[in-house]
Amino acid sequence: MRVKKRCDIQIWRASPNDVEHWRWREFTSLLDLAERSQAFKFRHEADRKAYVLAHGLRRLALADLLNVPPTALVFRCDKNGKPELIRPTHKPIYFSHSHTRKGVVFAASADMVVGIDAESVGTEPLDFELLRPFMGCSVLPLAEKKQSPATSFYRYWTALEAFSKAIGTGLSQAHSCIRFVPDAHGHWNVKFDDPHTPEMTSMVTQAVVMPVTSPHGCVASLAVMSPPQNFTTASSFETLGEDITLVIHEKNITEDFEFFQHPSN
Ligand SMILES: CC(C)(COP(=O)(O)OP(=O)(O)OC[C@H]1O[C@@H](n2cnc3c(N)ncnc32)[C@H](O)[C@@H]1OP(=O)(O)O)[C@@H](O)C(=O)NCCC(=O)NCCS
Repeated sequence: MRVKKRCDIQIWRASPNDVEHWRWREFTSLLDLAERSQAFKFRHEADRKAYVLAHGLRRLALADLLNVPPTALVFRCDKNGKPELIRPTHKPIYFSHSHTRKGVVFAASADMVVGIDAESVGTEPLDFELLRPFMGCSVLPLAEKKQSPATSFYRYWTALEAFSKAIGTGLSQAHSCIRFVPDAHGHWNVKFDDPHTPEMTSMVTQAVVMPVTSPHGCVASLAVMSPPQNFTTASSFETLGEDITLVIHEKNITEDFEFFQHPSN
């Protein structure tokens, strides 16, 4: 009998609207100098709050998982902007976050590489053409025909961004044309129509994207991939869906953190 490997993924979500006024100072105090100076570069308060909430949430969640104080965490970004934890290093952990005016999301896992993305619905005019460079023409009629074009558009867009964060490139780098192929679990398997390299083929045969519960007014997607050292060859196609059970733990920041349950003033 084949034993399925269990992989746990934690997802936290929060909305700036749920944060009481007096909490913002407390949140800001969790951030380091670089994060605070970045926060103050946002011209609009809504963007600044989303950034502060996302970075505060990231610190609270990782501190909880790694059992260290939130301010002890030290991050850096790689050359493509992918954040990495440089302190502490006692327990490897994969993580990703996203901030948009209506909500923020954070994902972490000790087992799987993750990428997460959320977008606020209804704040920007819909432009299905934005999908074309990444997904070719075939997706456009599909996406536009859906009953709720906005949800459909953001489902594709957040899936693309979540996947680009999991592989660490962001969307700015050119990709071969991506296709999302639904599987029996309701996940989308990621395929490249014309992978540039064998590594890329191997990588994407083991990546799935799925919708996750998002903050109110947002759509959010999670991408999950095997860590690089666990990549098998392209011949074990779609092993992620078959051999791995993904267990997603979804949490709301205001319900699941002690930080919110015991006011400090
Ligand atoms: C990575 C990317 C996908 C981020 O998406 P976004 O919607 O702009 O912003 P999000 O809030 O969802 O995510 C931001 C986080 O992604 C992470 N990130 C940035 N580059 C990353 C990379 N190469 N790999 C993984 N994560 C990355 C960072 O943690 C960043 O956090 P910070 O800004 O708080 O420091 C972005 O770099 C990108 O490629 N954007 C493309 C935007 C675009 O093409 N727009 C077209 C017009 S809509």
